Amino acid sequence: MKTAVFLLSIVLAELLWGGEAVKFGQLCSGNANNRKRISDTWGQGHYGAPRGSRVHNGLDVACADGAVVYAPFDVKLNGKVIVYTDPKKAAINNGINLSGEGLCFKLFYVKPDSVSGEVKKGQRLGTMLPMQSVYPGITSHIHVQMCNKSDPTKYF
Ligand SMILES: *[C@@H]1O[C@H](CO)[C@@H](O)[C@H](O)[C@H]1NC(C)=O
Ligand SMILES: *[C@@H]1O[C@H](CO)[C@@H](O)[C@H](O)[C@H]1NC(C)=O
Repeated sequence: MKTAVFLLSIVLAELLWGGEAVKFGQLCSGNANNRKRISDTWGQGHYGAPRGSRVHNGLDVACADGAVVYAPFDVKLNGKVIVYTDPKKAAINNGINLSGEGLCFKLFYVKPDSVSGEVKKGQRLGTMLPMQSVYPGITSHIHVQMCNKSDPTKYF
């Protein structure tokens, strides 16, 4: 009986509070609703989209070159991210590893103002790198990737 009551309270707690998934706040200036990159001549922006012999491990959020990138919630900065080893892509080879709201995730193609410390929701993290210089005609975007490569779509 005690076990049943205990289990029932867990179920109720889940129903009441558990369904509230974390949501990302605005990531990029000029894109208040985190509009996603859908499709362009370079590919598609959704999680799992084909990328030659592999698949896309992140979700792409549209962001114009040079736009200001914001913290989507209160975050801790865990360091710089190396995106590419190819020197031809050096112009956009930067990003940040962050955590907040119990999530660990990375933002690619962002030039960080800083790579340690903490940033409050809505404050500046850095600026969007010049993606058009490497991928002309692409929908310039921030690539959002969970540290464990799980699907970030439900957080948007
Ligand atoms: C990956 O991380 C997310 C967010 O931190 C977490 O909810 C999920 O359970 C993790 N998935 C795996 C397969 O470890
Ligand atoms: C991101 O930072 C976290 C916390 O320092 C670390 O555990 C994790 O390994 C880093 N992830 C990646 C993929 O760099």
